[in-house]
Amino acid sequence: MVSFGSHVDFSVPHIKIRNLNKYYDGQNQQIHALKNINLDIPQAKIFGIIGKSGAGKSSLIRTLNGLETISEGSIHIHQQNLSALNHAELIQIRQKIGMIFQHFNLMSAKTVWENVALPLKIANVDKAEIETRVNEVLALVGLENKAQNYPSQLSGGQKQRVGIARALVHRPEILLCDEATSALDPESTSVVLALLKKINRELGITIVLITHEMQVIREICDQVVVIEHGEIVESGQVWSVFSRPEQKITQELLNLEQLDLPFQIDAELQEDSTHSILKLRYETDPKHSPDLTQIFQIFEKSVHLYQSHIDNIQNHLIGHLIIATAQTDLDIRSLREKLKHQIAQIEVIGYARPTH
Ligand SMILES: Nc1ncnc2c1ncn2[C@@H]1O[C@H](COP(=O)(O)OP(=O)(O)O)[C@@H](O)[C@H]1O
Ligand SMILES: [Mg+2]
Repeated sequence: MVSFGSHVDFSVPHIKIRNLNKYYDGQNQQIHALKNINLDIPQAKIFGIIGKSGAGKSSLIRTLNGLETISEGSIHIHQQNLSALNHAELIQIRQKIGMIFQHFNLMSAKTVWENVALPLKIANVDKAEIETRVNEVLALVGLENKAQNYPSQLSGGQKQRVGIARALVHRPEILLCDEATSALDPESTSVVLALLKKINRELGITIVLITHEMQVIREICDQVVVIEHGEIVESGQVWSVFSRPEQKITQELLNLEQLDLPFQIDAELQEDSTHSILKLRYETDPKHSPDLTQIFQIFEKSVHLYQSHIDNIQNHLIGHLIIATAQTDLDIRSLREKLKHQIAQIEVIGYARPTH
């Protein structure tokens, strides 16, 4: 298989976004959809952008291939300023940027083969070359045997694989994915994510992926930014953002807020409170999981475990424990000091009266 991502220079970001603003004319007022976005998207990595519905994700990704104009700021792709390109140059750079969509956007009256061939036909590529390229990408996504089928005869996952084949037919250097797995069941989602990872690793294509699902970020992204109300509020390596989510929105997206405890927690100490409820977070490499006996011995009173969650992200083990201990006057600073080699973070999240 040929490598699509030619002339790799890892020292410069593949995509550089500076002071990007995007306004839409709304019905009554202007909508400020993207607010002063600054981003360096590295070459040949999988870069995730996560946020809730309406956060500005689609607006952002669509500016990268000129599907959406920008109001202020600049976007450089391989040091080429998108806004400074003439029409012919824009067409050329767009061929280096493939895109896939949530609802696949396939033409129902055309076969799989014809759908994939279409961008090349439009670009007046000669027949023999079209033949070679279409067969090449259909083999890559594992759909050679569906070439003569129509989209209606395919599963959702297969349709998205056709979408991926079509997006790769110009041998792009960048692949943009707008909620590419949001319409798929978990099994097809895994297949499509594995395929995206293979495309990234084997062909060196830079992938920019937007989603509202943390699971997607967790599975394949190297880096992530969190976007809320058109602004980037958090960014970093996926494992680091996952282990130390600073913003409430990130915690929500991670579902950390969803405590499902069998008793009521009060934020303040009540007269009848008997227990402190603590959240412990640790972070280690998978070979050095903490010794829980040591941790629980530090407490003077009994300790009950109510929730635990362990993630393994890019070879970092990230654990969260919710415990109750029968003491309401904890010296939290001394606990932190005693556990500092095992537990990265300890906080009292409230008080309760569990009935053990
Ligand atoms: N073409 C448009 N015209 C006017 N407003 C738009 C348009 N596209 C998006 N918006 C608004 O911009 C904001 C961001 O939308 P969008 O980028 O689609 O978010 P997301 O993809 O994160 O759901 C929303 O408030 C949305 O209503
Ligand atoms: Mg969207």
